[in-house]
Amino acid sequence: MALGHAEVLLLMGPPGAGKGTQASKLARARQLLKLSTGDMLRNHVAQGSALGQQAKAIMEAGELVPDALIIAMVKEAIAAQNSDVRVLLDGFPRTPGQAEALETLLREFDTALTAAILLEVNEDELVARLLKRAQEEGRSDDNEATIRRRMQVYREQTQPLVDYYAAKSKLRRVSGEGSVEEVFARITEVLL
Ligand code: AP5
Repeated sequence: MALGHAEVLLLMGPPGAGKGTQASKLARARQLLKLSTGDMLRNHVAQGSALGQQAKAIMEAGELVPDALIIAMVKEAIAAQNSDVRVLLDGFPRTPGQAEALETLLREFDTALTAAILLEVNEDELVARLLKRAQEEGRSDDNEATIRRRMQVYREQTQPLVDYYAAKSKLRRVSGEGSVEEVFARITEVLL
């Protein structure tokens, strides 16, 4: 593994697929800056920033925050890296517009996407994981109605990116079922 060189990975998959869980492990293992747009937005909401105030109701409804706001937020975070771009994107891009903006942005930094990892998990398991987290953590978008809407939004707006990255030979499909360690081992293998 060529540490110290540019590397841009992204983790895709439906709500509850394990993007955040695996992103933390992968970022640590490969020394990448983890950029989770969901976490960044939740921080804005917690701080009551202007962006947070705009995003709160959208997130609680399970809809997507407008592309322009998300792209500006990611751009600022990537631009703050003062050496080779080494990032792990969790939950971004989520629309074709975001994917195109990412490509343009990486070109500005003289780099390109390394791989897009798609975590695949059956829907019953996804809903079960999120309802369990609702009991444990009380995240405001983890109620059954919003979970269903998040799934639908994923299918309509984000799933087209699977074909987009497959056409560019960047897509790596990984089963997200099984233990966290099993999934992590599979991801590590597709990145060899
Ligand atoms: P975001 O935070 O990205 O939420 P999400 O995509 O719905 O994903 P989750 O965080 O629910 O699941 P995950 O796949 O990360 O899985 P996790 O590891 O947490 O986005 C939230 C909202 O912000 C969006 O709805 C939207 O409004 C807005 N937003 C964010 N990004 C945006 C963007 N780019 N554009 C526009 N809007 C945006 O795991 C889930 C649970 O399962 C956890 O409890 C975990 O412990 C457990 N778990 C994980 N792995 C396993 C395993 N292998 N076995 C059993 N349990 C597991």
